[in-house]
Amino acid sequence: MRFTRVLISGLLACFVSAHANEPADRVLVVLPDAMREHMLSNMRDHLKAISEIQTALGTGDFQRAADIAEQRIGLSSLGAHGAAHMAPFMPKEMQDIGSRMHSSASQFALVAQEAGADGNVQRAIGSLSAITNQCVACHAAFRVR
Ligand code: HEC
Repeated sequence: MRFTRVLISGLLACFVSAHANEPADRVLVVLPDAMREHMLSNMRDHLKAISEIQTALGTGDFQRAADIAEQRIGLSSLGAHGAAHMAPFMPKEMQDIGSRMHSSASQFALVAQEAGADGNVQRAIGSLSAITNQCVACHAAFRVR
């Protein structure tokens, strides 16, 4: 009897920890359908852009890495993403993470250009992770469906 109770509480603990990052822990952000689709399509392009940036870094094409980051994720991308339109639907923390992602991407663009001049690829890679850390932070905290 006692063994069964211990076993059950053990199983429950496993279940709870295995699901620690499941939707229930993330804040649901309700968006109008069209806006949610637009946001998810931007997201898919963000991932594609990160992949293209890594390819460019791998081939030593630092100017290309910089341009992709600035145009597709950086502050220059805000208009195309309809950011001003979407911001009012997002909790403050989500907006802040989004702003940090955009400014990190613009910062990376500068660092990547410098890497083109001084060959400091390691610094560029570190700067790239300042962008992806914001992707991870937002995904851990929010969901839209
Ligand atoms: C400010 C918040 C935020 C930031 C920053 C962010 N995302 Fe997202 N992303 C989301 C949310 C919310 C979803 C939807 C998750 C859900 O509902 O389960 C999402 C979904 C996605 C998806 C799935 C798209 C689909 O069609 O289902 C991809 C891919 C993605 N994000 C990539 C990225 C990448 C790469 C970055 C960083 C360069 C990034 N995101 C930054 C909030 C963010």
